[in-house]
Amino acid sequence: MLRVGVITASDKGSRGEREDLSGPALAKLVQEIDGEVVEYVVLPDDQVLLEKTMRHWADELGLDLILTTGGTGFSMRDVTPEATLAVADRMVPGIAEVMRMESLKVTPKAMLSRAIAVLRKRTLIINMPGSVKAVRECFAAIAPAIPHGIQILK
Ligand code: MTE
Repeated sequence: MLRVGVITASDKGSRGEREDLSGPALAKLVQEIDGEVVEYVVLPDDQVLLEKTMRHWADELGLDLILTTGGTGFSMRDVTPEATLAVADRMVPGIAEVMRMESLKVTPKAMLSRAIAVLRKRTLIINMPGSVKAVRECFAAIAPAIPHGIQILK
């Protein structure tokens, strides 16, 4: 069983002005790779808070996988990739490459996501865009390789 954390980055979601559908969608999707969401939080698009949560979940809780959704676009409030880069030990470019490659078959707007994937200690951290549709498409693209990657990490 993979221990998974889900962070939804959304100013509106964190204020309770928008129901988060993407976080719960990810919780369902990870079951396909034998994952269980043990931590879930909706945060504002705040780099300090995002970094703090990722560090805590990786360093203290030792989660196998952290999935973020939202905050990867061009809005001046979108800082999820910057927060992820700040906590990264090592980069995993292939994961974001495949998400964008597969997503481009669905929409040219896929190139507007600045999502990255990194390793911090023994935790894999992957950014995904904010919409439920994007989360489903991106997850489907990477799911076949994720369990093997995490297995090597241990
Ligand atoms: N990727 C997939 N697979 N499907 C999508 O619908 N939407 C794009 C892109 N990536 C999309 C996608 C859009 S419209 C934007 S603006 C960027 O992701 C950034 O989204 P975010 O700001 O919600 O993170």
